[in-house]
Amino acid sequence: MAETPRPVTTLDLLKKKERHEPIVMLTCYDALFARLLDEAGVDILLVGDSVNQVLAGAATTLSATLDQMVYHTTIVRRGSERALVICDLPFLTYQISREDALRNAGRVMQETGCHGVKLEGGQPVAPIVRALVDVGIPVMGHLGLTPQSVHALGGYRVQGRDEKSAERLRADARALEDAGAFAIVLELVPAPLAAEVTGSVTIPTIGIGAGASCDGQVLVLPDMLGLNDRFSPKFLKRYAAMADEVRTAVRAYASDVRERRYPGPDHSFPA
Ligand code: KIV
Repeated sequence: MAETPRPVTTLDLLKKKERHEPIVMLTCYDALFARLLDEAGVDILLVGDSVNQVLAGAATTLSATLDQMVYHTTIVRRGSERALVICDLPFLTYQISREDALRNAGRVMQETGCHGVKLEGGQPVAPIVRALVDVGIPVMGHLGLTPQSVHALGGYRVQGRDEKSAERLRADARALEDAGAFAIVLELVPAPLAAEVTGSVTIPTIGIGAGASCDGQVLVLPDMLGLNDRFSPKFLKRYAAMADEVRTAVRAYASDVRERRYPGPDHSFPA
């Protein structure tokens, strides 16, 4: 009988950083892909609020709701055994008050069975991170391009290019570490700055468009599978061309149905 794999913990991630072993993270939104990613040995499944864009078709992550995140995180947990599952807290579910943040993150932990939450921002949210960590909720931070602030940042642009914003990013990373975050996502950050931040904190950094020196990497699953073939940022590497495969398969099916080639005798039940 196959042994159940030992689940990944936040302590394992710290050890990986110490040993310079890269951490593998992907976004995941459902049980079917959770099983496949888990079997492929992905360390962290992030139920990102990007689900609101890539699966639900919204223009930004801003309209993602807590109910939506609870649903997707619950089904990802159903499909995974080994990976650490992290749920993104949506816009305005943690910024308004400490009480709100505790209630919303607590609900996510209790209802979904996930292992931690992710939230965006640095020094301004550090007290919230501390409050969550103090009640036992592991928190992953997110700096650089923070999609929930896309309008304030003037679009999806690389962050930390000038000295003032680079200094703010360094201070934000220190504030998240001091507040007890167990890891930090660095999104769209120049590679040298991401390398410097990675070397200056004891917790792992997970990069997306932040160069090769981060302690781990994350990509949005439908983007790296080539399912979302209308999105081609510089940092993205496509590992499959699934959109083409889906179109080809569906055209073949439609033609078989129209030409009465499917179902054939092999797919039909005799009397
Ligand atoms: O929501 C998301 O998918 C994310 C990743 C881009 C890190 O936050």
